[in-house]
Amino acid sequence: MMAKFTLPKNSKVKKGQKFDAAEGASNKKKFKVYRWDPENEDNPRLDEYDINLDECGPMVLDAIIHIKDKVDSTLTFRRSCREGICGSCAMNIDGRNTLACLKPINEVKGDVKITPLPHMPVVKDLVPDLTHAYAQYESVEPWMKTDSPAPTKERLQSPEDAEKLNGDDGKGPAACILCFCCSTSCPSYWWNSDKFLGPAILLNAWRWLTDTRDEAKGERLDQLEDPFKLYRCHTIMNCTNACPKDLNPAKSIGEIKKLLVERHT
Ligand code: SF4
Ligand code: F3S
Ligand code: FES
Repeated sequence: MMAKFTLPKNSKVKKGQKFDAAEGASNKKKFKVYRWDPENEDNPRLDEYDINLDECGPMVLDAIIHIKDKVDSTLTFRRSCREGICGSCAMNIDGRNTLACLKPINEVKGDVKITPLPHMPVVKDLVPDLTHAYAQYESVEPWMKTDSPAPTKERLQSPEDAEKLNGDDGKGPAACILCFCCSTSCPSYWWNSDKFLGPAILLNAWRWLTDTRDEAKGERLDQLEDPFKLYRCHTIMNCTNACPKDLNPAKSIGEIKKLLVERHT
């Protein structure tokens, strides 16, 4: 039998307001942006902004900043570095989770639809609530754990060992910026995020498992050996396809599963 869902009464996205900020412009584009304000009872809506592209920079984040500065100061979003380093501008653009600061406007054909990362609670407009995701991050204890006495200098690594973290192309698990584009593109995470850790956190769990300086491998594996935390990954691969930093969370998850198999043989 098909599962039936009843949506809360104000969850349907309605048409919103229209702003024409590009009158007479020859190079213009429409941005349809998800808006929701917890301070009133209204349904979410899609507001439409016509923007003169000659007045804003080339990336989708430039257009969003332009809207906030020049058209509608109530629009709420996160951003910091504007160069793909902080992970805070992650959102769904044109149907894909990505970083607004790395997404060129001219890659989007037609109108640019922008919504928050899917299946996350929303704080306001384009800002997802990452409280649970960060609690899950904390649960994998993302710091170095050692029993051996601290050396007087740094704990050194060979270049080969450092490569396990950084990759030979800079795309190893240590390059994760915790943007959550991967986890929020994973159907298993959509439906089981209460218990499944999701690809972002599992990639970070692997980052510590593969760190030769860390001495808590057994304890970390004990924590992960769980039907939900790890094994709700069914190798769907959306995570790796979504990562705007070209990292490979699916591969990291495979490596964890492999370690667990090895441990039992
Ligand atoms: Fe973002 Fe990629 Fe890290 Fe996932 S693996 S959180 S998509 S940087
Ligand atoms: Fe999800 Fe990636 Fe696994 S999309 S099911 S975490 S391979
Ligand atoms: Fe930092 Fe986009 S603003 S990643």
